[in-house]
Amino acid sequence: MSQNETPSGISPAQLEDLRQRALAVADNAYAPYSNFRVGTALLLDDGNIVTGCNVENASYRLTTCAEQAAIASAVSLHGPDIRIRAIVIVNLNNAASQPCGACRQTIHEFSTPATEVFFPTQDGTLTRTTTNDLLPAAFRLTNH
Ligand code: THU
Repeated sequence: MSQNETPSGISPAQLEDLRQRALAVADNAYAPYSNFRVGTALLLDDGNIVTGCNVENASYRLTTCAEQAAIASAVSLHGPDIRIRAIVIVNLNNAASQPCGACRQTIHEFSTPATEVFFPTQDGTLTRTTTNDLLPAAFRLTNH
């Protein structure tokens, strides 16, 4: 789906604003090992916008993805009840890139059925999907 086809969700102008914010924060990425610089902008249900970038580590597995950084920041700033209305993921490498498996689970934790996820395809446009499409069988604690 192209950027102009989000009838039930955010407007093209909102999407472009989030994309620009994600690009700006990607400039801050700490990615000396992969040189893959990722930025994420979250639009929360209450209207707040929070961004994050990837932060790598010499002990590679300690790397934090941009999505995880943005969500941790959103909870830190706005509390445990945040819900994501839209999440926009970009990179500065002109690469197609979907959220990794771990990030899908983290996004799911703060999603609603209406949450929109946008990620870059090879031609540079953003593809729209939903959390449920990305992770249809998410782990859940049975008593929550
Ligand atoms: N990365 C993200 O920040 N988000 C993703 O969805 C995929 C991967 C980062 C992790 C690492 O710093 C670099 O991209 C290469 O994997």
